[in-house]
Amino acid sequence: MSAQPVVVPVRGDAPYDVVIGHGVGAGVAAGVPESAARVAIIHPPTLREQAESLRNEIAASKPSVITIEVPDGEKAKSSAVAEYCWTVLGQSGFTRTDVVIGFGGGSTTDLAGFVAATWLRGVPLIQVPTTLLAMVDAAVGGKTGINTAEGKNLVGCFYPPILVVCDLDHLATLPPLDFVAGLGEVIKCGFIVDPRILALVQEDPIAAATAAGPHTAELVERAVRVKADVVAGDLMEVVGGPAGGGIGREVLNYGHTLGHAIERVEGYRWRHGAAISIGMVFAAELSLLAGRLSEDAVQLHRDVLSSVGLPVTYESGQWQKLHDAMRLDKKTRADVLRFVILTDIAKPAILEGPDPAILVSAYGAISS
Ligand code: GLY
Repeated sequence: MSAQPVVVPVRGDAPYDVVIGHGVGAGVAAGVPESAARVAIIHPPTLREQAESLRNEIAASKPSVITIEVPDGEKAKSSAVAEYCWTVLGQSGFTRTDVVIGFGGGSTTDLAGFVAATWLRGVPLIQVPTTLLAMVDAAVGGKTGINTAEGKNLVGCFYPPILVVCDLDHLATLPPLDFVAGLGEVIKCGFIVDPRILALVQEDPIAAATAAGPHTAELVERAVRVKADVVAGDLMEVVGGPAGGGIGREVLNYGHTLGHAIERVEGYRWRHGAAISIGMVFAAELSLLAGRLSEDAVQLHRDVLSSVGLPVTYESGQWQKLHDAMRLDKKTRADVLRFVILTDIAKPAILEGPDPAILVSAYGAISS
């Protein structure tokens, strides 16, 4: 794999490309279909200047290009902000062939995807993620959504974009802790499908933990390929897995059952990548206790995740709260807890309704 821009195809009923590389942001304008007369760029305040530059580039070939500024982070994912976007689109005369661009982190791309999916029952969407987490997870795979008072991502739909452009130049200005948290999802892809990711991190973890590291482009590309292949086979996370067999999209949930519970218990003040890092160690311990994973593989989780600065323990005495939160998770089916586990590196499986005793023991093993 090279440092040159690469194109990862996402196959399926509505195929699209993910373009990854330095300086590829210039390709966004070229990706707007000819049929579009109007373009709306949804962005957070922190990207106002860059959104304006993008607007100017696209305006060279399109008669009407507007920017819609939305709040930073999770505050963007509300029905009020979605309604604001619908109002602007309506007042701009947005038609079925016009294009919405989501330009920002995962919250912006989730909101932009939801707005594009719902306006006139769906207008073309281009995602331009600017954080590591959004590049390797939120912007790829077509999940869109907003939050309600009852929880995160409870309203949304599957709506694939027509193009995703990951300009790695954006990562240089990402706060270090956000970059490392994004690595949590990258490393997850290493554990569930592509162990070469783990080897690249292990080669020089300090370098891997920075955007300037020698393997950043390859790590992003490999993680996007993992996600692209998974969603191509099971876009809508079919209950019971895809028709052809296998776990399907649920595999992307490795580490997320406990990870989501930690996020909930911590009032969503934790970074997602940090929470799923602990969740992956928990899932590995669970699999070990169920007699399905080796001690060496569990240790590899601790070694790789902690080597880049991700947490691998959680405070003791919180089990009841975490357990309650896991039971409320939207992935729980009929009140039975489900975990993606590994039976070996890159060999995922499902553990359903584990013995409560091993849940408590696994928690003991990750407690600090
Ligand atoms: N973030 C998990 C998924 O896209 O399915």
